[in-house]
This record gives sequence, structure tokens and C-alpha cells, in this order.
Amino acid sequence: MANIKYPIVDVHTHVYLPRYAAELRARTSAPRILNWTNGSKTEERLLILDGEPSAGRPVGPQYWDRDEKLEFMQKHGINISFVSSANPWLDFLPAARAQTLAQELNNDLEEYCATSPAVEAFSGLKSLYGFGLLPLVPEVEVSTIIQTVEQLKSLPHIRGVIMGTKGIGKGLDDNALDPMWDAIQAAGLVVFIHPHYGVDSTLYGENNNGHVLPLALGFPFETTIAITRLILSGVLDRFPDLRLLLAHSGGALPQLSSRLASCIHHDPIVAKRLKHDARYYLGQLYFDAVAYGSEELTFVSRTISRASEFQSGGGTVEAKVGSTRLLFGTDHPFFPPLEASQKWPSVEDNLAAIRGMAGVDSKIEHHANILGLNALRLFDLHDQLYA
Ligand code: URA
Ligand code: ZN
Repeated sequence: MANIKYPIVDVHTHVYLPRYAAELRARTSAPRILNWTNGSKTEERLLILDGEPSAGRPVGPQYWDRDEKLEFMQKHGINISFVSSANPWLDFLPAARAQTLAQELNNDLEEYCATSPAVEAFSGLKSLYGFGLLPLVPEVEVSTIIQTVEQLKSLPHIRGVIMGTKGIGKGLDDNALDPMWDAIQAAGLVVFIHPHYGVDSTLYGENNNGHVLPLALGFPFETTIAITRLILSGVLDRFPDLRLLLAHSGGALPQLSSRLASCIHHDPIVAKRLKHDARYYLGQLYFDAVAYGSEELTFVSRTISRASEFQSGGGTVEAKVGSTRLLFGTDHPFFPPLEASQKWPSVEDNLAAIRGMAGVDSKIEHHANILGLNALRLFDLHDQLYA
């Protein structure tokens, strides 16, 4: 495997499609895109997070222009991107509008990907694939969600779906969502679980810390709670073939998984509810490698690898599960450099973190897996590599 040739694949990269940006521009309350004047300069700004500084963040063509995505990929040596709509998706819309817009945006994203260039060295593959959207809002009929899953299944470049943590209002552990998990599992779509709401913003205090606390802590804690609730609800037992990809390396789940297991074992209500020890479920999940540090990635990989020790009963156990369930990502176009720079430090840090993982650096196949091959396997595109 020494001379292995593999593409670099980004599984965590976002877009506000032009139709979605237009929806945000037409709004007068957050989430919205507004014109912001500072002295003689007017620019568009994005206001989406609860309680964020009133000027939000600058937003521009890097959020919607496909050429900018391709240029960014080229600059960083990324061959393939699995592009997803950025938060807050359709969460803020009434059910009827969410349903229409989901279908339209899914078709837009299919077109965005289908018309992208083939990868130079692997012409069986396109540069762009996508995660679609479901109309996950209160009062939507579950049958409407299922119809949208059917639509996604029919779009060849859409390989998964991105969703936040609210479900249809009660979170992802809502039993009413079981038909959705069933349909997604049957369709073989990958679910990318991504945060937006963070935690109660009063916990962030009163100092102006910009976006640091919601992004560095609120986002991963939100994901941690969402996936823990999913585990506790038995969704991973009922739908063992569901492929869930967690943003930001699963937040604090790997760090807290033994504590979680212990709390479950000691809880009279939950102790007998699950098929396996909580740590087992980490081996059923996929984690992006958007953690910015080698030590953290090494830890996540080892914690995932340990999962098989906690399987109860029979069944097959995947060997070396850790390095096969971590996948490179960038979070583009978020975290741009503050000063003009050739390459984005946020991307370079994530690449260096993968290359510096302990126990992985001497093994070229682990790099190849995390940087690209795991993604192609997850999205059932591995056969196309040599097509
Ligand atoms: N900020 C966001 O709002 N979303 C992301 O995905 C990353 C940063
Ligand atoms: Zn993201």
C-alpha cells in the first residue's frame, strides 16, 4: 500500500445555495442576510446564531458561488467535496414553505454537483456530491418527510442528508421520527448531524467574546447531547444500519463515553433499556476529523476502536474500527483567515492533525483512509475510484 493513490475528500463543507441566500435576504429577523454599513463601506452580513453580536459575520460569494468552492478545493489539494447546506437549514420556516424549499434546494444541489467537473485522476468520480435537506420543522407530516427521503434517493449525486438537532420540535430522539430513520436506513443515505443552537446563551456570560464560546463549546456540546439522547432512546438499537456522521468529531461524546456508560449502569430507569454498553455505539457512528489537533484525533480514534470490546452477545466486530470511521473535513466557508493568506490555517491545521496522529503517522493506509478512502466507502463510491 506504499504507493497508494487516493483522492482527498472533504465531508464537512457548506453552501448557502443562491435560492437559500435569497430566502435569507428577504427576511427582517434572524436568520437573515442584511446590508451593513460601516463608515463608507456597505457589505452583506450573516446573522444566524441566537444572541450573536449584532453585526453577525461577513458573508459573500464564498458561501454560494460554486467556482469559489472549486477554487478553494484546488488551493488545498481537495479532490472531492460532499457539500451540505449550512445552518440553520429550514428550521425557522412554516411547514408548507419548508417542504417546498427542501424539494427545490435538493434539486438545485443535485444540479450543482451533477454539473461539476470529474476528478482529474479518478474520472469515475465527480468533484462535488451533496447532502440534501428534509423539511424537519414542527407540524410537518411525517409522510412528507418520507416523500422527501424518496426524492433524495432519486438524485444520484445526493448521498446523504444534513440535519440539525431539533427534529420536528422535540429533538432527534422523538419516537415520531422512527419512520424517518427507517426510510433513511432503507435508502442508504448518510445522516450528517450538525449543530446550530449551542447551549443556553446565558451560560456564555456578559463579556464580548465574539463567536468563540458558541462555536468552540456550544456547537460541540449540542451535538454531544443530541447523539447521547439518540443512543438513550434506542434509535441505534432499532436502526443498526443507520449511518450517522457526527460534526466536529462527535463533540465531547468520546471524552464522556465511559462516564455516560457508568451513569447508565447506575440508573434504575435506563440500566436495562439498551442492547449494549454505551461505549459500543461509538463503533456504529462516523466522526468527522474537524478537531484541529492530533492528540484529540488520536483520542477519538482510540475511543472508537475500543467500541468492539463492549458489544454484548454475538455478532461480527469490525477490526481497527477507529481509523475507518474518521473522515477529513474543513467546515468551509466558515473560519476564513482573518488576514489574506494563500492557504486557510483552519484547513492546514486539520490536515496536519491527521498526519500527526500517534500510531497513524507510520501507516500510509490510515492517512489514505481518513483523508479520503473512508468517505468513498461510506458514500458507496469506492467502486468508482477505479472506474
Ligand atoms: N459557524 C456556523 O454557523 N456554522 C458552521 O458550520 C461553522 C461555523
Ligand atoms: Zn459545519
